[in-house]
Amino acid sequence: MEWIVQSDTSLWLMTGAIALVVMWFVKGLMSRPKNLPPGPVGLPFLGVAWEMMRAKPDPLALYSSWADQYGDVVSFKVGPMTFVLLNSYEVIVEAFSHPDLNNRPKSQMVEEALGLANNGVILANGKVWEEQRKFAHSVFRSLGVGKKSYEDTVATEMDQLRAAIEEKEGSSFDPNLLFGQAVANIVCSVAFGTQYKYSDVEFRQILNLMNDNMELSSGGGALLFLPLPGISKIPFGAPKKMVKNMKEVNKFLLNQIESHEKCLDLDHPRDFIDLYLKKMAETKVLETSSYSKINLNSAIGDLLFAGTETTTTTLKWCILYMMAHPEMQSRVQRELDHVVGRERLPRLDDRNDLPYTNAVLIEVQRKGAVAALGVPHVAAEDTSFRGHTIPKGATILSNIWKVLNSEELWKDSDAFKPDRFLTEDGKLIKREELIFFSVGRRVCLGEQLARMETFLGFTSLLHRFTFKKPDNSPPLSFEGVLGITRNTMPYLTCALSRD
Ligand code: HEM
Repeated sequence: MEWIVQSDTSLWLMTGAIALVVMWFVKGLMSRPKNLPPGPVGLPFLGVAWEMMRAKPDPLALYSSWADQYGDVVSFKVGPMTFVLLNSYEVIVEAFSHPDLNNRPKSQMVEEALGLANNGVILANGKVWEEQRKFAHSVFRSLGVGKKSYEDTVATEMDQLRAAIEEKEGSSFDPNLLFGQAVANIVCSVAFGTQYKYSDVEFRQILNLMNDNMELSSGGGALLFLPLPGISKIPFGAPKKMVKNMKEVNKFLLNQIESHEKCLDLDHPRDFIDLYLKKMAETKVLETSSYSKINLNSAIGDLLFAGTETTTTTLKWCILYMMAHPEMQSRVQRELDHVVGRERLPRLDDRNDLPYTNAVLIEVQRKGAVAALGVPHVAAEDTSFRGHTIPKGATILSNIWKVLNSEELWKDSDAFKPDRFLTEDGKLIKREELIFFSVGRRVCLGEQLARMETFLGFTSLLHRFTFKKPDNSPPLSFEGVLGITRNTMPYLTCALSRD
């Protein structure tokens, strides 16, 4: 008798459990917004969270397999969040020219840690973004950033970099910190008129903190954009470290603003901060204006953050590929010697006369795919797109990596082949699909500066040095490390002087 009662209870419990799982499953499926683009369904409630965890630290291969399976526009869910992944040049251009697909998701972490929400450029939306972006552009124009008139500032920095590399006297070094210092210094000169000595302890510390955060933020900056209230209070792991680093970097930025305020001369603004403070003074009366100290704080943080890691990493991929392809390195050097000579360093004016050098730089940027997943966008409204609906609030990722590795666009795309960008008579081929800086209304604000820095950085380094893999060092690896950018694995190099 007891046995019958027990088996009855077990049956009821089992039936109840199955019913719950079915309800959970059905509810999970029903919470999938209607008419989404195709994509992997994953588990109820969790979506593809499990697959994403397994794909860590590099989700690019997983995304690529979804692109192959579901097409150019793929959707998936991670918990309650809906993502749309854009996998071809055409869909990225089309989506990013749509006014409702150009907002940014909010960063819960930045908002909680620094009190910066709809501020600055990168994370701002609507009128604030429009005004701040336009102003930043106008400051770049008036300071000549990315133009010939700014070339001397960049060249001075490259001199400092060269001298620091010469001090190594051919012994092996990790280029990360030195390249980072050179590139950050150029942004610092734009933002607060300072070019630091590489021995400056505070400057080194700030760079290390920013570096850490780039890595800690995980594939495509996932942690930065995780909508988890209280994330800044998590007392352990990556979130705790990121918040601490962010606060320290921000203290450094606030100090810069404060010292500029103390010696501001409105008739002689020197840099981004001065010009911003001037603008604030002029627009004080306009209640509707977004020129405020909090937006200034955010904007200079954006420049430093967006302008340092990206360009540093590009230069690191350059040296890595040159070590791996010494014959190509020699060919670039021969072209430089022929066009520029040995008496001076390369200048922007030489750019059009250096097709092979440019082709190598482009191929490095294609293979390096530094901004592999761009910077996330978010849909401002339910939006019809290619026969599907991208729901309001969906996070949109541009799979720039996929475009740059597309076999259709770049035959034998796995191979490193700069010659693919040269005509038979040696002229440079320009291809619009090379969207290193994204496209559309949010296209990289620092594109001109970055192009100038990578060209002058790469050419002046190869003009002065030959880079070699140190004897007995581990084999070169071309695996990327995906944080906000797609970084190289750490490596050592030897720079042998050519003079
Ligand atoms: C090789 C170097 C660089 C690469 C590959 C790169 C790439 C990108 C990409 C892919 C985006 C996202 C665009 C989008 O949302 O669709 C972006 C945004 C941005 N970049 Fe860059 N970038 C580089 C250097 C720089 C530099 C040097 C600066 C400034 C000093 C800069 C400032 C910005 C800013 C402010 C944004 C946000 C634009 C907005 O939200 O309106 N970037 N960049």
